[in-house]
Amino acid sequence: MAKSGRKAGFEALGKLKKRLAEQPMRVQFAVDPNRFKRYSAEGAGILLDYSKNRIDEEVMAALFDLARAAGVEERRDEMCEGEHINITEDRAVMHMALRYQGDHPVPVDGKDVMPDIRAVLAHIESFSNAVRNGEIRGQSGEQFTDIVNIGIGGSDLGPAMVTLALEPYTRADLRAHYVSNVDGAHIHDILKRLDPKKTLFIVASKTFTTDETMTNAGSARKWIADALGDAAVADHFAAVSTNIPASQKFGIREDRIFGFWDWVGGRYSVWSAIGLPIALAVGYDNFAAFLRGADAMDRHFLSTPLEENLPVIMGLLGVWYRNVWGFSTHAVLPYDQRLSRFAAYLQQQDMESNGKSVTLAGKPVAWSTGPIVWGEPGTNGQHAFYQLIHQGTDVIPADFLIAARPHESLPPHHDKLVANVLAQSEALMLGKTEEEVVAELKAQGLDKAAIKELAPHKVFPGNRPSNTLFYQQLTPETLGSLVALYEHKVFTQGVIWNVNSYDQWGVELGKQLAKALLPKVEGKESGEGHDSSTQGLLAYYLANKG
Ligand code: F6P
Repeated sequence: MAKSGRKAGFEALGKLKKRLAEQPMRVQFAVDPNRFKRYSAEGAGILLDYSKNRIDEEVMAALFDLARAAGVEERRDEMCEGEHINITEDRAVMHMALRYQGDHPVPVDGKDVMPDIRAVLAHIESFSNAVRNGEIRGQSGEQFTDIVNIGIGGSDLGPAMVTLALEPYTRADLRAHYVSNVDGAHIHDILKRLDPKKTLFIVASKTFTTDETMTNAGSARKWIADALGDAAVADHFAAVSTNIPASQKFGIREDRIFGFWDWVGGRYSVWSAIGLPIALAVGYDNFAAFLRGADAMDRHFLSTPLEENLPVIMGLLGVWYRNVWGFSTHAVLPYDQRLSRFAAYLQQQDMESNGKSVTLAGKPVAWSTGPIVWGEPGTNGQHAFYQLIHQGTDVIPADFLIAARPHESLPPHHDKLVANVLAQSEALMLGKTEEEVVAELKAQGLDKAAIKELAPHKVFPGNRPSNTLFYQQLTPETLGSLVALYEHKVFTQGVIWNVNSYDQWGVELGKQLAKALLPKVEGKESGEGHDSSTQGLLAYYLANKG
């Protein structure tokens, strides 16, 4: 039923597109003074204004019909009930349990997972408190001043993004650093400023096999052993992994290994012990508040009717643009400098989840799936790529994010920031007609010929869609709610597209080929058998590697 429901849903939406194309948003705003009220919703401390989209009541009704036909609500319940909705890996998808604040049991495969989750949280709390107050120190008795998290993908992007976002909650005497890239420049440039005696490493890897992480962890281990001796490794390393034996084999003490579970996907793991560096950097209470904020968004997602449900609305708008209008990218533009890694974080969350082209049944999907997600904080982006968003040939739906209150008391700044974010969504929506441009140029005193020449360049098409997400302040709670909001948006879209949002086989081929190429790059094996491009590049490297 869901399959034909989807098809019928897309068809119904396709029919509505023409009318919307002929009815620009500026006209809709002019005729409906209630448009903001009609198309805004609030949940978990976040206001979503989606009135500046190419929508009307009929479009929204058709989108909600599509969500129901695709089974978003049923699938949501299946996820909560611990069903193995990650079918290709035969796993439940239970990251919501990691931040669950209630006292009901949460069974996964017949076992309540809450006691284990609470035990790991208690471990994170005691360890982070002890490091922060100096009870746990380096081998030579020095207090830790620098935490280096070694991980990649979901074992890096979440904590790195959150630590930056929560800068006002950090301490100057305990700094968190993130090493992810196998490019030696990354770890080198971080370690060159650090003192081994005061440095604590966290090796974060769900599998504890990821090549980049193991290579970086090996270099970090050597750095400690060279400076302080091999015995110091136990005092200067902790691990976060589902693979306890491999962590122990690396030399990490049992009481410094923080476990998590295979029902937590890497890109959904910031709520697990992968958040350990966050707790170290901002304190456990703030980490707990981050989890509470996410749980508040979960409650909203699970219990609010679809018509008022923030992640569902955002997911459906994305589907409308991707599948009916054919827009292939989505910009995330936080007017919040501390969210400078938010788009990078969402790239993994969204693109690794919904960058799929077969259905759950393994058949080719009959529609486009995940968009390209990208973005940078405003106002910087305004002076770089916004030109294309305003006047380029592609339409790029965008999310603007902004806080009502900054953390700093620097009076002129925040009002200016807010004026800019409001101006951008208004400009994208309104555009500037030829008539308006001509009138403006006339008022500037230009003659007819000059106006004719210049006017086309100054016309803005407008009718370009955006959402604005307003929140009180970028607190740990708010950040938790924001991240969970996008997680559920991605879930909603994955259900509509009928893909498995929880596997990532597409990253495997590159890993396999890299493994096979390494001995050739090292000069130990011949490159014969590879295509001529690969052989040519290999030969260039071997001739120049020095
Ligand atoms: O290669 C992709 C990936 O598997 C991500 O999904 C994951 O977040 C990342 O690698 C890191 O994996 P791990 O935590 O096992 O090192």
